[in-house]
Amino acid sequence: MSEVTVKAFFDEDTYTVSYVVSDPGSGRAAVIDAVLDYDPNAGRTAHHSADKLIAYVRDTGLTVDWILETHVHADHLSGAQFVKSQLGGKNAIGEHIGTVQSTFKDVFNLTDLAVDGSQFDRLFADGDTFQIGNIEARVIATPGHTPACVTYVIGDCAFVGDTLFMPDYGSARTDFPGGSAAQLYTSIRKILSLPGETRLFMCHDYKAPGRDEFAWETTVNEQNERNVHISKHVTAEEFVEMRESRDSKLGSPKLILPSIQVNVNAGHLPEPDDNGISYLKIPLDTI
Ligand SMILES: [Fe+2]
Repeated sequence: MSEVTVKAFFDEDTYTVSYVVSDPGSGRAAVIDAVLDYDPNAGRTAHHSADKLIAYVRDTGLTVDWILETHVHADHLSGAQFVKSQLGGKNAIGEHIGTVQSTFKDVFNLTDLAVDGSQFDRLFADGDTFQIGNIEARVIATPGHTPACVTYVIGDCAFVGDTLFMPDYGSARTDFPGGSAAQLYTSIRKILSLPGETRLFMCHDYKAPGRDEFAWETTVNEQNERNVHISKHVTAEEFVEMRESRDSKLGSPKLILPSIQVNVNAGHLPEPDDNGISYLKIPLDTI
């Protein structure tokens, strides 16, 4: 199996892990789930997180071919457009992005938003493949957290987005529009039927009770043996019951409103008003 180089960047403000995945043979690379910093108190964006990732790409002489999203994130603004402006590359996401766009076009009254995913350079269907240099990458549709979630299998690694978290933390919530605990179970089973030694890279880590360090890499074998929500011993019925009961007690993520209206538009910030200032919308009593 092809060897890939994986460099992780952890954003402690949103507990998000972004990755640069590269083929050492060709120097070609993909960026996964880049973050745009956002201070909700000041309404101010910044590039500190993306700058670290960009510096790594430049210092190591990589060429970015792809800027990938595992899904429409609800906890951070996407840094994809800033990274693209600095490094080039095609931005891509799962083909069911239109379903997510349609839902939130209505919530935010985004009258100009196309709901066909045309803001992205490529939309991936389940089973699609693409190249990162000499390494073949494969897309697995893994809905459940959102309808458009995908997992990227790149060499002996899989980037699972918000499906699984570390084994001691469990799985992603399924109560967003279009989410489904039963679908998430099926999606996770797909991931956990990859070869046991497959390296799995999480999109988030929140530390688990009793763990002092952030962590984001595990394996299929480890998840199957000891994921607290969905080890190989857990049935679909047990998982759905656990997930739905937990989800009913969760509050909204801190940045859900600013994040989603930007991320359904591929990370483009809103067009400025006639005074030159861009505004985000806060829909009342909807989410
Ligand atoms: Fe998410």
